[in-house]
Amino acid sequence: MTLDEFKAACAALAADAPAQIAAVADLDAWTALRNALVGRASGRLTDIMATLPQLPKEDRREAGQAANAVKLEVEALLTARESGLSAAAKSGGDLDLTMPERRRWVGAAHPVSQVIDEITEIFRELGFTIALGPEAEHTWYNFQALNFPDDHPAMDLHDTLYLQGDLVLRTHTSPVQVRTLQQYAPPIRILAPGNVHRRDPFDASHAPTFAQVEGLVVDEGITFADLKATLTHFANRFFGSTRTRFRPSYFPFTEPSAEMDVLCGVCKGSGCSVCKNSGWVEILGSGMVHPAVIESAGLDSTKYTGWAFGLGPARTALARHGIPDIRILYDSDVRFLEQFAR
Ligand code: DAH
Repeated sequence: MTLDEFKAACAALAADAPAQIAAVADLDAWTALRNALVGRASGRLTDIMATLPQLPKEDRREAGQAANAVKLEVEALLTARESGLSAAAKSGGDLDLTMPERRRWVGAAHPVSQVIDEITEIFRELGFTIALGPEAEHTWYNFQALNFPDDHPAMDLHDTLYLQGDLVLRTHTSPVQVRTLQQYAPPIRILAPGNVHRRDPFDASHAPTFAQVEGLVVDEGITFADLKATLTHFANRFFGSTRTRFRPSYFPFTEPSAEMDVLCGVCKGSGCSVCKNSGWVEILGSGMVHPAVIESAGLDSTKYTGWAFGLGPARTALARHGIPDIRILYDSDVRFLEQFAR
């Protein structure tokens, strides 16, 4: 016996063992195989070790190391196989192959966030950028700069949540118009998404905190035609070829003002509970920026004109999906939300 022959016998054992170990089907077969491979009394490794004294003295140390390495390798494979077999033996009896698989919950963007994202994308393509303003806002930005008369009912305690001093929780995103006009020179094309707060009851169509998306365009020579064309384009992109109509309205910060309706997405105009049988759903308020607003931001209203709009994405989401109660948007009920995964 030479060192090379000894090492070859070890290598052969190491080469044969993995397939044999993988092939055992139960714990009895596993025990028999373990004895055949590394069992102390007989077993291939014991047979190999028995030849060690035949080697020249100076080779025995290296030979012993080679045999030990194979022993560790084979024993690790045996241990792994044993735990696999005993786990299978334990669960095998209870295995019910007819049990339905557990459903995996994959998170989804909230329907209101989806509306905001889509609106942002449509206007981004038209060259609008995002502008943000504070939710704790000065009354001047929230009201006076937007041409609210001092006795306007929206300023009343019942609608506005007052903080310290002259700070309020902004009741709309329109103050971002004034902040933007003060900060940047025209041409201005911005979209201002954000949360607003009102002292409203929490009922089927009102929430005390809700999102708005504000839009503002100011430049030389902007007309009502720009407003109509842009908002009509938006409606057709967002709702997929629809019809729009503009109704005269009133906001202190626009003149003239208009509300835009789109054909009810649920009944396509024939009348249903979502559109209260009118066939139309109101989507946004809009108008030509009042000269007083342009002046309060420090710009020349004889040089610059503009248009603006404000939209509630929660209402838009309700109209789009035919949801009857706004409160469900605040419940975070996974059974509701998972329907909006895409
Ligand atoms: N700020 C208004 C509100 O909260 C919405 C609005 C209407 C915004 C007309 C506008 C606009 O920019 O032009 O009810």
